[in-house]
Amino acid sequence: GDGAVAVAHPNIALVKYWGKRDERLILPCTDSLSMTLDIFPTTTHVQLTDQNTQDAVLTDGAVARGEMARRITAFLDVIRERAGRTERAMVETRNTVPLGAGLASSASGFAALALAATDAYGLSLEPVALSRLARRGSGSAARSIFGGFVLWHSGASDDPDPDLASYAEPLAHAHLDLALVAVLVETGPKPVSSREAMRRTAMTSPLFPDWLATTRGDVTAMREALAREDIATVGEIAERNALGLHRTMETAVPPVRYLTPTSHRVLEGVRDMRARGLPAWATMDAGPNVKVLCGGGDAQRVAGELRKQSGCAAVVARSGPGAVLRKKV
Ligand code: DP6
Repeated sequence: GDGAVAVAHPNIALVKYWGKRDERLILPCTDSLSMTLDIFPTTTHVQLTDQNTQDAVLTDGAVARGEMARRITAFLDVIRERAGRTERAMVETRNTVPLGAGLASSASGFAALALAATDAYGLSLEPVALSRLARRGSGSAARSIFGGFVLWHSGASDDPDPDLASYAEPLAHAHLDLALVAVLVETGPKPVSSREAMRRTAMTSPLFPDWLATTRGDVTAMREALAREDIATVGEIAERNALGLHRTMETAVPPVRYLTPTSHRVLEGVRDMRARGLPAWATMDAGPNVKVLCGGGDAQRVAGELRKQSGCAAVVARSGPGAVLRKKV
């Protein structure tokens, strides 16, 4: 039968996506802005089959069940409907994230799946259309379709076709030499899924409306700072946006706490580096890992200091490529 293999990379949001105005279509409350990374790619193989009555999903060799399997089937249903086809699929996904690092990314996962599955079902989509589709699997996956710096448009809520209006596009003129040092804070399973945490924050945190308003301004300011390659402003906006986001989570009812004492120690270390004249800024997502932004030329020194200060492993990432199909062997 028909099959395809695709590779996609995770991305780090410099201005975060948090909160949906439409849960089914995954339409975000605000625009967000990211850099696609060159580490931890996901490789996904989709093979169509007439024999099975259900989709079969293998993640790193283990059968996926429950919520993730349900999300993947719902996503494949969107593609099957569009392609006018009914075959089930065998999906095999491989991540290269170190075990237990809590960095497995739904962004790289659904970006690779969108590309491999559309190809397998005989659809050929332009990258912007592919980003709209990847969004239906996981919002942040819309951005991993493209390499480098990427803007995901929320689209206007009164748009006649809200699905069409929300897509990602590369910021072709942004060439800042930005590196990211991912500090791998040891952790158990996530206390709350990001999907649930996002819903709870938007519904219950008194700080959420203000964070949204600030985020709208942050997107504009971040674009300007990227255009003039002003790394200090890029870092400051990213850090402030992420700290504000975590305050909205912590004031949700009940609160969502992703940061651990180790995360806070790393944050302190970043402030300390700045005080000593080594420019670096922190950002955090729905987990305890702290990702440290700095100039490309400072990355190895920043990583060394963070390892020494935290005792954690630290991985240096730079700007990475968009999702690509891989030739079948
Ligand atoms: C904190 O894209 O994982 O990483 O759309 O519900 O699948 P769903 O959420 P997801 O959320 C990512 C949130 C974030 C910030 C970001 O990447 O912008």
